[in-house]
Amino acid sequence: MISLDLCESRNTEEIPEEIMAKILFLFFVLLTVTHGIALINLSDEVILSELEDLDAEEGDEAEFFDLPKWETHRGNKILVNVDSFGAVGDGASDDTKAFVDAWKQACSTPKSVLLVPAGRFYLVNPTRFRGPCAGRLRVQIEGTIIAPDEPKNWDPKNPRIWLGFFNLTGALFQGGGVIDGSGSKWWAASCKKNKTNPCKAAPTALTIYASSGIKVKGLTIQNGQQMNFAISRSDSIRITGVKVSAPEDSPNTDGIHITESTNVVLQNSRIGTGDDCVSIVNASSNIKMKGIYCGPGHGISIGSLGKDNSVGIVTQVVLDNAFLRGTTNGLRIKTWQGGAGYVRAVRFQNVRMQDVSNPIIIDQFYCDSPKSCQNQTSAVEISEIVYRNVSGTSKSQKAIKFACSDNVPCSHIVLNNINLETRDGTAEVYCNSATGIGYGYIHPSAECLNSSDKKIEKMEAMLDESKEEYLIHTEL
Ligand SMILES: *[C@@H]1O[C@H](CO)[C@@H](O)[C@H](O)[C@H]1NC(C)=O
Ligand SMILES: *[C@@H]1O[C@H](CO)[C@@H](O)[C@H](O)[C@H]1NC(C)=O
Ligand SMILES: *[C@@H]1O[C@H](CO)[C@@H](O)[C@H](O)[C@H]1NC(C)=O
Ligand SMILES: *[C@@H]1O[C@H](CO)[C@@H](O)[C@H](O)[C@H]1NC(C)=O
Ligand SMILES: *[C@@H]1O[C@H](CO)[C@@H](O)[C@H](O)[C@H]1NC(C)=O
Ligand SMILES: *[C@@H]1O[C@H](CO)[C@@H](O)[C@H](O)[C@H]1NC(C)=O
Repeated sequence: MISLDLCESRNTEEIPEEIMAKILFLFFVLLTVTHGIALINLSDEVILSELEDLDAEEGDEAEFFDLPKWETHRGNKILVNVDSFGAVGDGASDDTKAFVDAWKQACSTPKSVLLVPAGRFYLVNPTRFRGPCAGRLRVQIEGTIIAPDEPKNWDPKNPRIWLGFFNLTGALFQGGGVIDGSGSKWWAASCKKNKTNPCKAAPTALTIYASSGIKVKGLTIQNGQQMNFAISRSDSIRITGVKVSAPEDSPNTDGIHITESTNVVLQNSRIGTGDDCVSIVNASSNIKMKGIYCGPGHGISIGSLGKDNSVGIVTQVVLDNAFLRGTTNGLRIKTWQGGAGYVRAVRFQNVRMQDVSNPIIIDQFYCDSPKSCQNQTSAVEISEIVYRNVSGTSKSQKAIKFACSDNVPCSHIVLNNINLETRDGTAEVYCNSATGIGYGYIHPSAECLNSSDKKIEKMEAMLDESKEEYLIHTEL
């Protein structure tokens, strides 16, 4: 591989533009010669410098987990433009091969930038983009990537994947571009929309799988065939400033779905879909969400867990600073009867709600099935759940609902500074088999939660002292 240190200096203003342009030109020629292909054409020069500018703020960010540092200085980067690999970008031509070829090039080239240029629509079939890649890959999406819209012609080898990124270590996805699953025909074919249709799984628009040290910044993900964006079997993922949207009536279009993943941060993002804005499921822990707008949708959910007698474990989840508007649930934990495992150490705080149907809800009788579900003796155990500074309007009378199993009660629930009310002032709290404490202002009052359990006192002490350490390792 070639080494291209364009400029050691961090201050690009020290170099006259003219000289910079010459250096860049030489760089392009060298690249073209070395690779035997025109990776970069003339207008890319402009794009490259724009990309550098986009990057500028990265250096100000505190280091997070073990993510690699992103270079802020000019140079050292190799642009791989999908257009140079024959992508047409007219929304009708199949650009899959161009994307795959560009991926191969970018993935095998250290410090490369895979560019999807602005102003065009790239039709891409279901594709698995696989790592591991050479270091510091950046995927810069400025244009729109669209999925073929006909379920009948979908590649049967990828029933659950549209754009899947597998096995990456240290990659950045960013840009002002759009990933559009063109899901409308999938939604119409769903058994939720038309009871005569079979219940079949549909693809997820964007999937990050078996990866670590991934940042996703600024992208829009919309109209997912089913889920919009899934993080699966991954570690150290940071998602910032993304927008996820699908119509309110689109079935099962979860916004961001986190499964079997650890150390995930989701920040400053806006999600409105036909299902959960965020869903966190099995084998996930240390999940932090901050600055989330949710609506429409089914709220911020942990679960569902425990379906078909399975084991579900979710621990250490924090939601801080969120606004939910017009959602069918607010802060929800949902588990099926007959499951096993646990949900533990969860904190929801500084949440405002407007016209939310079930603002605070634990539902251990969750049953998203055409058939009704029987009560069973086992259940996913729920404990150490803190709700603090939660206020706003509830659309249902039971503004707070703790529906817990008789055999596996919910315990150590903490309410602190809660103010939820219906428009007509009749909000109430429902508890079944739930224990915990409340302190500070609590409306509607939650006497049904009152616990004589001595362990609660211990818990209160823990919450006041070491809770930050306990529930959350690093502040956002
Ligand atoms: C990830 O990459 C490693 C190393 O090449 C390989 O052994 C492993 O099978 C890959 N895993 C997946 C899920 O692709
Ligand atoms: C439901 O699906 C069936 C079979 O696919 C179709 O014949 C019927 O027209 C659909 N109904 C509606 C209301 O779309
Ligand atoms: C949940 O995760 C655990 C641990 O990874 C695993 O053993 C179990 O099979 C998972 N359950 C489901 C339903 O996938
Ligand atoms: C399951 O148990 C709950 C709590 O005791 C009860 O409210 C509900 O009616 C039961 N459901 C069924 C299907 O028996
Ligand atoms: C809860 O709200 C109060 C008053 O707005 C604020 O002082 C406090 O810091 C908040 N608590 C947390 C944990 O953010
Ligand atoms: C528990 O009961 C005490 C005494 O009746 C009351 O002051 C307190 O507000 C209750 N806690 C909750 C969470 O309602």
